[in-house]
Amino acid sequence: MLSIYVCFYLCSCLLSCDFLSLTALQVTGGNMTVVQGGTVVLPCKLTDTTEDLNQISWQRKTKERPRNENFFTIVQQAGPKFVNGEDLRFKFVGSMSDLNGSLQLSSVTLLDEGIYTCIFTLFPSGNHITEIPLNVLVPPVSSLKDNHPALGKEEVSLGTCTAAASKPPAQVKWVIGPLEGKVNAITSSTKHDNDTTTTVSSLLGVPTREINQRLVHCVITSAALSKEETLPFTIQVYFAPMEVIIHERTKDTFECVTEANPNADITWSRSDNSWPQSAVRMEDATLQFLSMTSNLNGLYQCEASNTYGTKLGHLYVHVSSGEIRFDLVVVNVGWIEWVSVASYTYGLLTR
Ligand SMILES: *[C@@H]1O[C@H](CO)[C@@H](O)[C@H](O)[C@H]1NC(C)=O
Ligand SMILES: *[C@@H]1O[C@H](CO)[C@@H](O)[C@H](O)[C@H]1NC(C)=O
Ligand SMILES: *[C@@H]1O[C@H](CO)[C@@H](O)[C@H](O)[C@H]1NC(C)=O
Repeated sequence: MLSIYVCFYLCSCLLSCDFLSLTALQVTGGNMTVVQGGTVVLPCKLTDTTEDLNQISWQRKTKERPRNENFFTIVQQAGPKFVNGEDLRFKFVGSMSDLNGSLQLSSVTLLDEGIYTCIFTLFPSGNHITEIPLNVLVPPVSSLKDNHPALGKEEVSLGTCTAAASKPPAQVKWVIGPLEGKVNAITSSTKHDNDTTTTVSSLLGVPTREINQRLVHCVITSAALSKEETLPFTIQVYFAPMEVIIHERTKDTFECVTEANPNADITWSRSDNSWPQSAVRMEDATLQFLSMTSNLNGLYQCEASNTYGTKLGHLYVHVSSGEIRFDLVVVNVGWIEWVSVASYTYGLLTR
């Protein structure tokens, strides 16, 4: 019994639908979305008519032109033409004989966003229209900024990740891995008059040496980006040179090292401001004794400095009766200590 009813219902529907489709003229469009800079086809199609098509025309109401206006018409004999000024980014890609009024727009900008109206003018029934909303997505402009935190005990902003002027708003987050609990993020966003949004996420933390040089990532996602953007960020905590250490690299070469950010510039000098040219060579942080003469005698100073401060280290060299002695001068609060690091007889220091 039921199946008979179903059959009856379906059959009558098929018949009536077929009947309707022969008579129900309609214009179909669409709701289009395009990324700024891209190309989009504004679809417009007329179906189910046997009337004469006189003209297809297009109107727009956009951010740039907020009052609805005609801007493009297509007539059989004359072909497509611009109304109210030419904009060659628009191109008719439909076909009058196919009743296809589609229009292509290239190099889309945010100002093109709005409502496009496609109008088929038929004889005798007149105008038949459809509206095509065009939604423009704007990818964010991504950037990272190092906030140059100096070593300290208070929480500060270590760096800032920005996704500027995105539509729709972008998501900005930090991937901090093992620094979980040591750093955290705070995000805020600002909407602009042109409907784009700037999202800023600051990475907060106490600027310690422990988090210096650690790698984290800022990840930006947006509907306007084909894939997420990952920006690597090496946390920088800036500090003056720590203690200066002079150590023996080889029997005649000493190196001055320290920890600093940015890296310290290291220079050697002698307390009496004279420099035994041929007997000592200075190269970067190293000091090399080339020959053993009593000219070498003296106090050598290593100065490590960056924009945050300066630290000194001292090496005392003493040559006497076939022997060379190197002493580190360690300055402690209240007293000065000389620590012998090496002493060689003449034969060891040969070139
Ligand atoms: C068109 O689509 C967009 C995105 O899917 C939506 O936000 C918007 O409301 C739609 N507009 C209309 C008029 O349907
Ligand atoms: C109308 O023309 C456009 C552009 O040539 C084409 O992409 C689209 O498929 C056509 N529409 C129909 C319904 O045939
Ligand atoms: C939107 O406005 C913001 C802020 O004034 C500007 O930086 C951005 O370039 C604008 N975007 C577009 C697509 O016009």
